[in-house]
Amino acid sequence: MTASNLRTCLAIVLAAGDGTRMRSKLPKVLHEIGGRSLLGHVLTTVQAAGGSEVAVVVAPEREAVAAEARRIVPAAQIFEQAERRGTAHAVLMARAALEKGADDVLVIFGDTPLLRAETVAALRAPLAAGAAVAVLGFRPADPTGYGRLVVENGALVAIREEKDASAAERKITLCNGGLMALSGKTALTILNRIGDNNAKREFYLTDAVAIAREMGLTAAVVEAEEDDVRGINTKAQLAETEAVLQRRLRQAAMDAGVTMIAPETVYLAADTQLGTDVVIEPHVVFGPGVVVEDGAVIHSFSHIAGARIGKGVSVGPFARLRPGTELGEGSRIGNFVEVKAAVFEAGAKANHLTYIGDARVGAGANVGAGTITCNYDGTSKYKTNIGKSAFIGSNSALVAPVSIGDGAYVGSGSVITKDVPADALAIGRGQQVVKEGGAQRLRDLAALKKKT
Ligand code: UD1
Ligand code: MG
Repeated sequence: MTASNLRTCLAIVLAAGDGTRMRSKLPKVLHEIGGRSLLGHVLTTVQAAGGSEVAVVVAPEREAVAAEARRIVPAAQIFEQAERRGTAHAVLMARAALEKGADDVLVIFGDTPLLRAETVAALRAPLAAGAAVAVLGFRPADPTGYGRLVVENGALVAIREEKDASAAERKITLCNGGLMALSGKTALTILNRIGDNNAKREFYLTDAVAIAREMGLTAAVVEAEEDDVRGINTKAQLAETEAVLQRRLRQAAMDAGVTMIAPETVYLAADTQLGTDVVIEPHVVFGPGVVVEDGAVIHSFSHIAGARIGKGVSVGPFARLRPGTELGEGSRIGNFVEVKAAVFEAGAKANHLTYIGDARVGAGANVGAGTITCNYDGTSKYKTNIGKSAFIGSNSALVAPVSIGDGAYVGSGSVITKDVPADALAIGRGQQVVKEGGAQRLRDLAALKKKT
């Protein structure tokens, strides 16, 4: 346990950005990377970093943003900022939360999804050591637009916003990443003193540094990597950030024992859980909510979301697993197979060209090529239950609700509309007719027609 872990922490997440440069109907912080909203990333990190109280500041009429915040942190307090009057003004919208008191107050922007819990912990450390303010600094490749950190004799004395900076100050390469930690003892006093006497006529949170100094308190800088504070304003930045996240996720997966042949072609979700000795072939896409247990192999060009894949399972190539899929140990899902809300028990197989939706496939059952569960009648969805060790012949249509008993056998090309008892043979197809010499008679007829 570090000292920071023992301190209570109020995290204030600013999510009131207008996001106009995203050119989207979707609020900026609800855009996703790694299958999770930007706000979701930030709040997940805040929780991992010990944010015991969470306040989210949203723009008016942003019920969707508030709902996303509550989905991740049910106890999150939501505050509205009616007018955008600066970062300090936004923080003060959470005054009620600030007044309750906390050892540490963190201010985090809702559009910096790559922030890591260890970075937050590092930022809190100076507070435990007595600092009133701690700022996350970084050295961007291009400092344009960022606030500059003015350091004198090793001490942080001020943050100068670019619009207010002198030519000399603009040459400073150490910039403000935006993340700030304030000691709860003095946070409100400092915030209350911030004014709007600057180029943008905004209440700048960054003024907290100079005010703390005036009050005889200390401010500290903690340096972070640029990726940690990468903010998103455009769709292009969203894509760049996604790329950084994907690199991190792939690296973490490989560090944990996953084999990837071409990691740069595999897209993971932030919450993808992969066991050891899982093999992922090139060009596989994971949506949210996937768990893959040890030793499973995901072959190329598969798309997987909301699925639990058991030990030693083989999936794909070209498989699509949709939410609610559960594949038991050693089961097999082959090429061009789609599975939705269905359980495959241990050793069950669907190897080719099949749709299994709203179903249970019993242990050891074999689903032949081209089998379709007809689960939808245009109005409602119905279940198909396939018993243990049952055999479904190729190109069968199982019209739900329907049940195939343990060990039952369905003849190829059947349309099954009635339940099949255990160990029964069901055939539901037109009878084959064979006419001896019929092919020759047809050809003769065709030749005759051509002449006349
Ligand atoms: C801010 C910092 C700057 C830093 C940069 C890092 C200030 C004054 N400046 O500048 O030093 O280098 O971030 O990216 O803090 N917001 C509100 N309400 C407001 C204003 C802002 O919620 O009234 C939110 C925005 O949605 C955004 C965040 O606060 O998430 C930062 O605001 P933004 O306008 O992007 O500040 P910058 O000019 O980038
Ligand atoms: Mg910004």
